[in-house]
Amino acid sequence: TAKGEKKDFLHISDFDKATILKILDRAVEVKAHLKSGDRSFAPFKGKTMAMIFAKPSMRTRVSFETGFFLLGGHAIYLGPNDIQMGKREETRDVARVLSRYNDILMARVFAHQDILDLAKYSTVPVINGLTDYNHPCQIMADALTIIEHIGRLEGTKVVYVGDGNNIVHSWLLLASVVPFHFVCACPKGFEPDKETVDKAQKAGISKIEITNDPKEAVKDADVVYSDVWASMGQKEEAAYRRQVFQGFQIDEGLMKIAGPKAYFMHCLPAERGVEVTDSVIEAPNSIVFPQAENRMHAQNAIMLHVLGV
Ligand code: CP
Ligand code: NVA
Repeated sequence: TAKGEKKDFLHISDFDKATILKILDRAVEVKAHLKSGDRSFAPFKGKTMAMIFAKPSMRTRVSFETGFFLLGGHAIYLGPNDIQMGKREETRDVARVLSRYNDILMARVFAHQDILDLAKYSTVPVINGLTDYNHPCQIMADALTIIEHIGRLEGTKVVYVGDGNNIVHSWLLLASVVPFHFVCACPKGFEPDKETVDKAQKAGISKIEITNDPKEAVKDADVVYSDVWASMGQKEEAAYRRQVFQGFQIDEGLMKIAGPKAYFMHCLPAERGVEVTDSVIEAPNSIVFPQAENRMHAQNAIMLHVLGV
């Protein structure tokens, strides 16, 4: 980003490795500070953030709102019926109006183009809180969680099992800047976006594998990762997908193949008994709740980064 130009957080691959690792280091530091109970660090004092949600959310909404508040700021929740971006009002108008009241815009939208349009027309930083294409804040929190539990992200083997969706695209974009081994095991026809796979492979940073064999994929994994089979906007395909995704459920058998060092992760919300069994999500090596907590800490560091404080 040129000097004086606003910084957005739209895709992990918009940043170099040093910047991503710096944001993660900052997350560790600010997390420790908040955990100590000290509330004197208030870099967002006098600042406001507008949070636009075209889809439901628990983690993203609460972690952003709480995190921004804990660091001194005020966040405003705008739900699917409030501004009806693109319907009641054009995205470019929403961006320009909200920019005049707020210091940050955070948005969760359907079409990825909507977040690009918001960023184009906003005069303040825009943070991507999930689109149909990617979910960068989630994967920053996941990276933080892996660093906390394994000691490093570099060189680890992360195996995602399920739909080649927005979560996978953010893993691939992270793998195009930070070196690790990323494997996506998905049913035929549910592979991640080809251009994104090519971009990650061509970056030559990480080992990237896309396969249709979950049993082979999970061997020797450091992390086995899952997400819903039908994402928001695809819920009418849920029944059909349950048929097609047979064999891609993460159960005790698959975790056993993965081996004793494998942690289980899931971005949540989870459909227990569908993409993951209850026993896997409740097992001692499941780190889904520290992972969910880290949404707030990773995002605090992202907000500090985009605001340059
Ligand atoms: N993981 C995640 O983004 O959760 P929410 O949909 O609840 O925000
Ligand atoms: N792939 C899921 C992630 C939810 C956090 C979805 O887009 O619904």
